[in-house]
Amino acid sequence: MTCPLRAYAPHHAESGGHRRFAMRVLAVNASPNKDGLTALSAEAFLAGAQEAGAEVDLIHLCDKDLRRCVMCENGWGKCRREGECVLDDDFADVRRSILDADVWVLATPVYFGEPSEVARAVLDRLRRCNTGPLGGQLSGKDLIGICAAGGSGRGIGTCGEVLERFVGHMGMRLADLITVTRRSKLYKIDTMKAAGKGIVVQNWDE
Ligand SMILES: Cc1cc2nc3c(=O)[nH]c(=O)nc-3n(C[C@H](O)[C@H](O)[C@H](O)COP(=O)(O)O)c2cc1C
Repeated sequence: MTCPLRAYAPHHAESGGHRRFAMRVLAVNASPNKDGLTALSAEAFLAGAQEAGAEVDLIHLCDKDLRRCVMCENGWGKCRREGECVLDDDFADVRRSILDADVWVLATPVYFGEPSEVARAVLDRLRRCNTGPLGGQLSGKDLIGICAAGGSGRGIGTCGEVLERFVGHMGMRLADLITVTRRSKLYKIDTMKAAGKGIVVQNWDE
């Protein structure tokens, strides 16, 4: 079976006589906290992936200048025509990092049963830039969604639904949707690490 992930991975290493590609796993933390539940979950996932041999990277969206889509022109602007956003901020860099990764982990806090505002801003703009005639770059890529509901735990399902819909629009693969609450944190952080490891090992063996 052809593994589409390998097309993205230029790095390789010899292991036991087999050529192995180092998978690149990017986690994007969409919480304003760099040491909260969301970041902790993303870091645990990356630690597992790294242990399994992946190259890992973490982007905190709170460090970035990211605006919301302004619906330029009549609702479809440069994004549809040229596959690029008209706004001059950090979106293009974040998008590049996502496109360059083999596996993208989006970790978002649950706010009012939805992904955070900045997560939605990135998802909205990615959707616009990747659905026009020049889009399609995200097609077939794996997304792992992490929804961290640190309050009552309510709304975790609807938050996951938003991510699932995005994956559908993009033709991506939903590799996993992992939830964590204040109460499940004790055992779920270990689960995140195991998931990070599992995703890498599984794809190497595909
Ligand atoms: C505006 C806002 C809305 C929130 N809505 C929810 C919610 O719907 N369900 C829930 O369980 N927690 C909710 N929370 C709590 C966050 O999910 C919790 O603080 C989460 O741990 C944030 O992640 P962080 O620790 O990475 O900052 C909300 C928090 C804020 C600030």
